[in-house]
Amino acid sequence: MNQIPVIVVGAGGHGLVVADSLLAQGRGVLGYVDADPAMQGQALLGLPVLGDDAVLEQHRQDAIELANGIGGAGDLASVENGSPRRRVQERLEAAGWRFASVIHPQAIVSVHAVVEPGAQVLAGAVVQALARIERGAIVNTRAVVEHHAQVGAFSHVAPGAVLCGHVVVGAESHVGANAVVRQGITLAERVVAGIGAAVVRDVASGAVTGVPARSVEGRT
Ligand SMILES: CC(C)(COP(=O)(O)OP(=O)(O)OC[C@H]1O[C@@H](n2cnc3c(N)ncnc32)[C@H](O)[C@@H]1OP(=O)(O)O)[C@@H](O)C(=O)NCCC(=O)NCCS
Repeated sequence: MNQIPVIVVGAGGHGLVVADSLLAQGRGVLGYVDADPAMQGQALLGLPVLGDDAVLEQHRQDAIELANGIGGAGDLASVENGSPRRRVQERLEAAGWRFASVIHPQAIVSVHAVVEPGAQVLAGAVVQALARIERGAIVNTRAVVEHHAQVGAFSHVAPGAVLCGHVVVGAESHVGANAVVRQGITLAERVVAGIGAAVVRDVASGAVTGVPARSVEGRT
């Protein structure tokens, strides 16, 4: 078991789930860092908000790991503008910090799948054989990533979503809660499938919703 303690970056809802998952993995969690002054001094799951990023300087970079606690609510504007989750992680990585992978012990991950360093697979999720979860991506609670499917860097497969076999999700995209993507379909980078969508055609840009899913803009 990895004994290096972890600090979670971001003390919002996703940060709390990440901390909980790390604790379930048996990792030591020192607390959170968060830029929001209103969060300072608070405790979540009994773990303190330690301060903003400046607090990290109190630690040696080889003595702790970070975990990305910034999630994504799947609103189109923020997806199109690029992932805050990615910006923050890459800034800290460039400064020399390492990000832990988070794999909840009750996730089912095939030994024949690839989960890249820094990816997150949360409680109840299933990642099947020959699937690939790229760095910084989230496979959230009870989501399913079927065989040969790929989840691009810093993309978010939200709770309960299902990617059937051979689906490709580009970087920084969002597959909404309980959405289902038909086998072999490709979602480009920075696109959104809304909650509950049934995606049966490739998505090149923007957001799609509904059953079958259609573009939000124009409802074509
Ligand atoms: C698709 C989505 C991006 C649209 O967000 P938005 O651009 O802010 O759109 P709005 O909420 O203004 O809704 C626009 C229209 O689409 C409809 N709509 C929004 N989301 C929808 C969905 N998932 N399915 C069907 N219709 C939807 C709204 O009812 C509204 O219709 P109207 O104009 O007839 O009133 C968003 O609703 C969504 O589903 N995001 C994913 C959320 C998610 O996965 N959360 C989990 C986080 S862990």
